[in-house]
Amino acid sequence: MDLCSAVQFLENKTILVSGATGFLAKVFVEKVLRIQPNIKRLYLLMRAADVNSAHQRLHKEVLGKELFSVLRGILGSNIDSFFHEKVIPVPGDISCENLGIQDITLRAEIWKNTNIVINCAATTNFDERYDVAFAINTMGALNVLNFAKLCPAVKMLLHVSTAYVCGEGTGHIMEEPFCMGKSLNGTTGMDWHGVTRAQGANVAVYNVEHEVAPNCHSPNVE
Ligand SMILES: NC(=O)c1ccc[n+]([C@@H]2O[C@H](COP(=O)([O-])OP(=O)(O)OC[C@H]3O[C@@H](n4cnc5c(N)ncnc54)[C@H](OP(=O)(O)O)[C@@H]3O)[C@@H](O)[C@H]2O)c1
Repeated sequence: MDLCSAVQFLENKTILVSGATGFLAKVFVEKVLRIQPNIKRLYLLMRAADVNSAHQRLHKEVLGKELFSVLRGILGSNIDSFFHEKVIPVPGDISCENLGIQDITLRAEIWKNTNIVINCAATTNFDERYDVAFAINTMGALNVLNFAKLCPAVKMLLHVSTAYVCGEGTGHIMEEPFCMGKSLNGTTGMDWHGVTRAQGANVAVYNVEHEVAPNCHSPNVE
């Protein structure tokens, strides 16, 4: 899709973005608001105790950043009403079912209206504890997929992941969109045996570390 058709595609669309306080999603949000001001709405999912905290995070960690200064220059005094109309902070957590969105009215509204889901939420800590990384980067991605399936008007789910995922393919691997049912290894569904094996390894390492070094709480599973 070239830039012109992407901009056109975004017109009047509602997008759910996770990881909005992070590096990539913030850049995405700014660009969408700048190049397609006729976007209908952006729901920005962020970890927060309640709506007030989510509002605070939105203004302090996203919209208040220098990144948005070009947009501020373009919209001038209309910027606050523009943000108010287009950007809705949503307290949630992708490691939870229904993305941890507790407000059932808001959750139903998001399900009903969302056309595009962009998952940028992740732990990007390379030596994260296995269970934390698994809950966010694996189960979180699955929770986002399940949430997107409940949006009747959804047209696209974009999962942003690490730059190094190419399955077991070799050679020159082109970047191409995946249609429903297509996967890197030709099968669909989760390899639960692999997960269990990895978790077993983690438990084993964890136990060994506790035996050997009781103060070590961060098992590093390769
Ligand atoms: N940055 C790059 O150059 C780059 C390149 C290629 C691929 N990627 C991939 O792009 C994705 C995003 O990267 P990034 O650089 O934007 O990461 P980042 O700056 O570390 O941001 C991660 C975001 O995810 C949120 N998050 C973490 N756990 C969450 C949870 N359980 N529920 C909801 N939100 C959660 C964080 O929220 P908090 O603020 O609450 O922690 C933060 O907003 C990652 O998968 C990364 O591997 C990044």
